[in-house]
Amino acid sequence: MSLRIGIPREQFAGEKRVASVPEVVEKLIKLGFLVTVETGAGAAANFDDESYRSVGAEITDSAAQLWGAADIVFKVRAPLPEEINLIRPGTTLVSFIWPAQNPDLMQQLAGRRITVLAMDSLPRQLSRAQKMDALTSMASISGYRAVIEAANAFGRFFNGQVTAAGKIPPAKVFIAGAGVAGLSAIGTAANLGAMVRANDTRAEVADQVVSLGGEFVKVDYEEEGSGGGGYAKVMSEGFQQAQREMYARQAKDADIIITTALIPGKPAPRLITADMVKSMKPGSVIVDMAGEQGGNCELTVPGESVVRHGVTIIGYTDLPSRLAKQSSTLYANNLLRLTEDLCKTKDGQIDVNFDDEAIRGLTVIKAGEITWPPPPLKIAAVPPQVKPAAGPALAKKSAHGHGEGEPMSGGALAAIFGIGAVLFWLVGAFAPASFLSHFTVFVLACFVGYMVIWNVKPSLHTPLMSVTNAISSIIAVGALVQIAPPLSGAGEGRPSALILGLAVVALALTAVNMFGGFAVTRRMLAMFRK
Ligand code: NAI
Repeated sequence: MSLRIGIPREQFAGEKRVASVPEVVEKLIKLGFLVTVETGAGAAANFDDESYRSVGAEITDSAAQLWGAADIVFKVRAPLPEEINLIRPGTTLVSFIWPAQNPDLMQQLAGRRITVLAMDSLPRQLSRAQKMDALTSMASISGYRAVIEAANAFGRFFNGQVTAAGKIPPAKVFIAGAGVAGLSAIGTAANLGAMVRANDTRAEVADQVVSLGGEFVKVDYEEEGSGGGGYAKVMSEGFQQAQREMYARQAKDADIIITTALIPGKPAPRLITADMVKSMKPGSVIVDMAGEQGGNCELTVPGESVVRHGVTIIGYTDLPSRLAKQSSTLYANNLLRLTEDLCKTKDGQIDVNFDDEAIRGLTVIKAGEITWPPPPLKIAAVPPQVKPAAGPALAKKSAHGHGEGEPMSGGALAAIFGIGAVLFWLVGAFAPASFLSHFTVFVLACFVGYMVIWNVKPSLHTPLMSVTNAISSIIAVGALVQIAPPLSGAGEGRPSALILGLAVVALALTAVNMFGGFAVTRRMLAMFRK
């Protein structure tokens, strides 16, 4: 007999998301399940009852009927007390739970003798688990929405423009914390044309910030910020002091600040002080995405948008719900992937298999017994740091594109130098004297060229090539010297008309190369300037 999946209407005030959407319900039915949806469950996310019915779901009129009929319940928010009372023993509940923050809820759910899979407890480090990672889906939507909220409250364009009515500078956006939400905000703000800067305590994200069009701003203090598993840790007092100084400078300069900094299981770090808010230009905007964990800004009011010292501070805690159709669809897909793992036999049955590390991590209660926290993962999902104290230095290296690979051993280096020296001596001993001087210049040129190119960011390699192309045309000067008439004995040894004609054509072509090369370089570099 197939199990029945129930999709209730979310009871939490203001919650617009729904745990499954018609497109996904159809796939759940193909996996052998029966699906029941509470009437109006998808309404706030633009999915009406008919759209669920048309793919084969049944619609119930009340929450009591739904909870009474379902063997498995898919939800977004953790159940409220009135919902907990409706749960039948033996039900499997899949939802956000946050077991560390909600011990009472855990006890109540365990008391109902049910099985609970908490989407927030997925071991995100397992690459296999990424398809079910609802935290990542929701965070990337929040980052996008934070920028949209900021743009809505900000009185100017994001992109710089030159119009007949005057020149408009681009908005300056500073993003604190470059995790999933922060990176999404960086990409969105950069795409809107803003000048984006970002900071994170984990130096390894610097490359990702740059690749999304932002600039990574470092704190002038050496300390590794990674707390393991891809998450941050609480930093030392010295670091925090240096970070506050840097943030104070950024606050004065920025038009918009979006804060996303979180440390698992800890209150959100206080990064933006009241004084920093005061120092911002009137009309500036702060979007604090850490409101639920206490806020990254001292003046944030969680859940609200307030104006302090002329700065709009947005502390909304329902950003994914403000994009309900998108977030419901992504969440539903995450749940579908989980269901596929729970139901490998595709026969409408589930197996909460503790040998599967992803399922083990997610299961916080099994048949009434609390199974959270799970045992540590067997595999080291995140590669260990080579040198824990070298965070910023590592980032600097990889920013130039050559941070990977093993350093050469001292012996190998000495051997290469030895062979080079012997070869050089052989050239010196047997080659003509004029060759040696040319050869020396050649070797030095190779060395200087190598050093120059190696220290240019890969993104600037194309303008570098066009400028070297332009410079190479300067050899035209050499051609001019060759065809110029000798200073003495005018008329004597003058090149023939044919050679002169060819030289003029060659010079004209090389002039195009030279001036064109510089012009192209200028235009390319302009693309990198804001
Ligand atoms: P989060 O929401 O816990 O934290 C957001 C960001 O704030 C993090 O990047 C953190 O380093 C930063 N932060 C914390 N304290 C800060 C401070 N004082 N100043 C500045 N920044 C501070 O993290 P999220 O977004 O859930 O994920 C964190 C990382 O984990 C991401 O880089 C993500 O890519 C990674 N991750 C890795 C997975 C894997 O497969 N290994 C799966 C999912 C996420």
